[in-house]
Amino acid sequence: MELSILTLCYLVGSVTFIIGLKMLSNPSTARNGNLLAAAGMGIAIIGTIFLYEEDGKRLGNYPWIFGGILIGGVIGTLAARRVKMTAMPEMVSMFNGMGGACAALISAVEFDHLYKNYKGDDLFGLSEYVAAGHYLTIIAGAIIGTVSFAGSMIAWGKLSGKIKDMSFRGQHIVNLLMLALVLVAAVMSYQYQTTYAHLLFYATVALSLVYGIMFVMPIGGADMPVVISLLNSFTGVAAACGGFLYNNKVMLTGGILVGAAGTLLTILMCKAMNRSLKNVLIGSFGGGAAASGAKKDQGAYKEITLSDTAVVMSYANKVMIVPGYGLAVAQAQHACHELEKLLESKGVEVKYAIHPVAGRMPGHMNVLLAEADVSYDKLLEMEHANDEFPTTDVVLILGANDVVNPAAKTDPSSPIYGMPILDVELAKNVIVNKRSMKPGYAGIENDLFFQPKTSMLFGDAKKVLQDLIGEIKNL
Ligand code: TAP
Repeated sequence: MELSILTLCYLVGSVTFIIGLKMLSNPSTARNGNLLAAAGMGIAIIGTIFLYEEDGKRLGNYPWIFGGILIGGVIGTLAARRVKMTAMPEMVSMFNGMGGACAALISAVEFDHLYKNYKGDDLFGLSEYVAAGHYLTIIAGAIIGTVSFAGSMIAWGKLSGKIKDMSFRGQHIVNLLMLALVLVAAVMSYQYQTTYAHLLFYATVALSLVYGIMFVMPIGGADMPVVISLLNSFTGVAAACGGFLYNNKVMLTGGILVGAAGTLLTILMCKAMNRSLKNVLIGSFGGGAAASGAKKDQGAYKEITLSDTAVVMSYANKVMIVPGYGLAVAQAQHACHELEKLLESKGVEVKYAIHPVAGRMPGHMNVLLAEADVSYDKLLEMEHANDEFPTTDVVLILGANDVVNPAAKTDPSSPIYGMPILDVELAKNVIVNKRSMKPGYAGIENDLFFQPKTSMLFGDAKKVLQDLIGEIKNL
């Protein structure tokens, strides 16, 4: 009976993961999807703790289990509550690394069980006693989980500015050799005399740790979101190995879903930036070095005052706001929503044009604007927004740069050539708010800023929006 209740818990857990994941694909259902999947995970965990039995014995160890849950729960809750929106990729990276470490620890524990059973000083290896498939799940979980942990920690360090990009000539060859060493050590830990299996297993883990660090080290800091998504899929696969090991369906389903979702997200992000995964992994993009950009002489740009901006926007029929990374940096989402409501009270139609990779993580702008209660119906996806620009009077660009750079369409030598962009230049007027003429993430200049329709409105997005609201109110 209890086994069937536990099986039911796992079934409920698996189903909630799938439905929750599906709900995450729409901003209006994402929050509930997250809660649903978390509830399913809770049921699976509680079920395992109280109902799982082996040889008629329950898990026990309750103080350890609940002590761990308490410590992890408190740290996780505090971290998630305090994190700033712009630091979200860092937190995801840290949590992902912890998942990888857990998967690797599971493998280490299971290896220890094998080792205790078969260690000896005979000439045989573990291959004499342990089925290859079983050992493969242990060692694969250890390698992939460790790589994911080490890589995620480096990604976290880079995103938080604590670790600088580091690469040297031939690093990719060294990395490949390192990976070969990991695999050789892994095979030896299975084949070589059991006496040394322990040593060889931990050598595999140590080499994987070094490989994880070296794998992420040369990748441009700004490419970290793509790398985190890739590492996330690694963690999923490592967790799935644990699911195989324990014949635990919910762990298997969860791991496979994370692995598949992470892989799809990586591919989608690369597609939206029009770059191959290889280019992300070895391209050192966005660090400045690779950014094309022998400075062209684009002529002069024109500035606009706050009062003129207020007039142009108040008397427009239709305004399109293009949010970008700078809006998140300035935490200006609430001021932006206030401007939208103010303009609407004056009869202006206001919408938002959302580029799929605006900001620094998937859905960054959606989450940011949702935080300020901007209605989802006002957010237009890139294709729809592009259809509407020709009938738009004013485009207000708030801290966006690459996602509106026409070089993506016109300059084959540009690193962002081919990336789909928002065709803001089709609107009647374009007003760009940023703090300076500095480039964005790709490190390249933007011709849009020098076009006759474009006016620059310099300043921090939050301050500018607050002042603009004041000006419009005084009209
Ligand atoms: P960016 O091209 O990075 O431009 C952001 C602009 O915001 C900068 O030019 C900066 O100019 C301005 N800014 C910064 N702080 C500001 C503030 N406080 N107030 C006003 N402006 C401020 O951003 P984007 O257009 O959103 O494009 C995103 C880029 O990130 C793309 O190249 C994309 O490929 C890349 N990327 C995205 C993702 C995902 S999934 N979203 C993942 C990896 C990479 P100033 O310094 O002059 O103010």
